[in-house]
Amino acid sequence: MEPWLLAVFPTLSDQNHSMTPKLKTVCVVGLGYIGLPTASLLGTKGYQVVGVDVSPSVVDTINQGKIHIVEPDLDILVKSAVNSGNLKASLLPTEADIFIIAVPTPFKDDHVPDLSYVENATRAISPYVRPGNLVILESTSPVGTTEEIVAVLLRESGHDIENDVFVAHCPERVLPGRILIELVQNDRIVGGINAQSTEKAAAFYREFVSGEVLKTHAKTAELCKLTENSFRDVNIAFANELSFICDKEQIDVWELIPLG
Ligand SMILES: NC(=O)c1ccc[n+]([C@@H]2O[C@H](COP(=O)([O-])OP(=O)(O)OC[C@H]3O[C@@H](n4cnc5c(N)ncnc54)[C@H](O)[C@@H]3O)[C@@H](O)[C@H]2O)c1
Repeated sequence: MEPWLLAVFPTLSDQNHSMTPKLKTVCVVGLGYIGLPTASLLGTKGYQVVGVDVSPSVVDTINQGKIHIVEPDLDILVKSAVNSGNLKASLLPTEADIFIIAVPTPFKDDHVPDLSYVENATRAISPYVRPGNLVILESTSPVGTTEEIVAVLLRESGHDIENDVFVAHCPERVLPGRILIELVQNDRIVGGINAQSTEKAAAFYREFVSGEVLKTHAKTAELCKLTENSFRDVNIAFANELSFICDKEQIDVWELIPLG
């Protein structure tokens, strides 16, 4: 096992994960590049995790302790979490202390965001949400999604989201290829729909994140993630343009960059 993996996830050497005192229950909805690493990380940190996916083959694969996506060392983490009994995959949600929604948020035609996955996931967990629970949207989402879709749908199905059920956005900022290390070491932005939700969500992330947990409002957290993505896009586009100019002028771009 890689030494860095043991340093970040010391409980991997302990198949029962008995070093960790807590046994909070977490339901992670969407077991892709974000949801599965998150679910297995929590499983190895002493949480009881049920991972939910609409795909039967994804659920079967994970319950065998295997993975359906490509990410370094994720297979080790998933196997460990499943073998310890702390991670189970399911087609249906279950009651939990904390719900994490990590479903796709793609674009439709004309760059209109498709929020149907977030809506479906929220409707799916709603019957299992109880007073005192925390619902976190991790999917990259347009400004207002946490308040106007997640919170509104929960309220419509009878939950007292002003006092009893806490709702927050915590965008995921990991880079594929480094997901496991970044899940733990990155700073996290946590934005609740109200102050209590922010506090609850921040306390949760502080339990397994070694980076800073930065508190804000849900809308600010949503825009922060979109700003990061846009900044990266602009830089990639700029680098592409630069390489086109270099090709045309027969300049070595790799010589140019350190000179600039
Ligand atoms: N992949 C990344 O590097 C990355 C980084 C940061 C943020 N994000 C964001 O995280 C979110 C999730 O992205 P991803 O890359 O994990 O997606 P993904 O496509 O890898 O996985 C999504 C999973 O959700 C499942 N799913 C869809 N609808 C569902 C539902 N209603 N209930 C349960 N499961 C459902 C799918 O079957 C799939 O397995 C997106 O908003 C994405 O923009 C992704």
